[in-house]
Order: sequence, then C-alpha cells, then structure tokens
Amino acid sequence: MKTVTSIAELQSCLSPIRGKGQSIGFVPTMGALHKGHTELMRIAKTQNPVVVVSIFVNPTQFNDSNDLQSYPRTLEQDLAKCEEAGVSIVFSPSVKEMYPTPEPQQFDFGSLDKVMEGKYRPGHFNGVAQVVNKLFGIVKPNKAYFGQKDFQQLVIIRKLVEVQNFDIEIVACPTVREDDGLAMSSRNALLTPEQRQIVPIISKTLFAAQNKGSNFNVKELVRWVKDQINSTPLLDVEYFEIADATTLEPIYKWSDAQQSVGCIAVRVGDVRLIDNILF
Ligand code: PAF
Repeated sequence: MKTVTSIAELQSCLSPIRGKGQSIGFVPTMGALHKGHTELMRIAKTQNPVVVVSIFVNPTQFNDSNDLQSYPRTLEQDLAKCEEAGVSIVFSPSVKEMYPTPEPQQFDFGSLDKVMEGKYRPGHFNGVAQVVNKLFGIVKPNKAYFGQKDFQQLVIIRKLVEVQNFDIEIVACPTVREDDGLAMSSRNALLTPEQRQIVPIISKTLFAAQNKGSNFNVKELVRWVKDQINSTPLLDVEYFEIADATTLEPIYKWSDAQQSVGCIAVRVGDVRLIDNILF
C-alpha cells in the first residue's frame, strides 16, 4: 500500500494504472475509519484491481467550527485498516494541498440540498460537493463507493456526477450496523457510555416504523417516530421526514412516491447522529 499526501505524487502513481486500462475504485472518507468504511473498501476491491482511499477531514463541509475541531482524527489506525483491507493507495492531503486558495465553487442542486440535512446544516452539501468534485477530478476513478447511511449525500453525489458530466459509476452500499442496530458512524466514538447504551432506540424505532408502514398514514408515522425517540431520555429529534427517495421532496401520502425514505437526525448531547430507512 502506498500513502501519498500530494496531488502530483498521486497522479504519478495513477497514470501508469490508467495507461494499463485498469479500473480504479475510489472510497472517499474523512478518516476515523470503522466497519462501514472497510465494507466500502471490501466491495470496491471485489470490483476493481486498484482501490484508492482518500482520508481528508474537509473543512468546507462543516458549518460548525466546534464540530470540525472535535471530529475524530485517527490517521495511524486508519492506515492500518486500509492496509488490512487491501487498499492500493491512500491519499491523505493537507488542507493547503486541497485548498491552496479559498474554494469559490458554488453548486446548484435545486431543492436536493435545501431539505433535511441541508436545512439544518446550511452550506454542508456545497462543501461536500466541492471536495468530492476535486477528488473525482484528481483520482478520476471508474467507480466510487458511498454508504446509504448518508442517503441525502448519496443522492447529491449522483446529481454532482450528472451536472459535472463525470464518467464515474456511483456504487451505493448498504448501511453497516452494530449488533444492536446502531448505524456505524465516526461520530459514535464521541458518545459517552450512557449515550451509547441509549442510541440504538433510533434504528429500532426506524425498523418498527418500516414494519408499521402503510398501516399508518405518513403524518401519523412521522409523529409516532418523533414521539418514540423524543420520549427517550437524552435524545432529541432534530428532524424526521419521509420523502421521495429520488427527489427528496416530502411526501404526504404513500402513493406520492414509488420508493420513499425516512431520514432522521437526532441530537444526543453534543453529538448529532443520522440514519434512514426505506419504505
Ligand atoms: O461521507 C463522508 O465521509 C464525506 O462527506 C465525504 C464524502 C468523504 C466528503 O468529505
């Protein structure tokens, strides 16, 4: 496994690979790697002879400086995990390498980045799009791998590929969960033992909602999910919305969408967790 920190070095590793016509699979990450990430790497490895992982805590996608500061950084352990997963190249640039000057690019994703996460974290998805756009331009992968846990991000990345005309296949990978159902996230490491014990109620409630499905109307189900979680000590629902899984427009009747998704954000002390379920 090669670890490179400069764009020039990465290009010189990748150009012979491209020259040989070998397919490059790309897993962009912000580090603090967990099984959700190593699963993306595993899937990428089954589909490409060369797998590139980026590790970069992207400042432009944080709308809260405390959140950026407290984001876990565990480079040494991350590199060991990449090595074990059979990754070919890790790209871990500095902020200066990625943004030598302040990034001016503004994307227009219509309403996709205005709802849910976009509403509560203004500018977040523009920051995600800025860095993924740069990384796609640098790595030029054939396929890129994203977890369904960040459902809205996945929809926006697909839109980015469309608006920027990237010839990249986006591969959506199922959410990886702990044994108690908690969706794997780098932020789970920030939970206290007491918070960690309580948070599985989030996914348990989403699974129960999925089972209830059309026995409830959409409004009743939204209310039920919020009440279940808000009545649990330490948990505070920021939003729970049921939306069309393609357009992310809120739905009011089950027949409004062919496939719908329930997306949730929950505050647990200073930590904010997201999850989702398909209906
Ligand atoms: O999902 C993430 O970890 C980040 O948003 C991404 C896609 C690596 C961009 O910084």
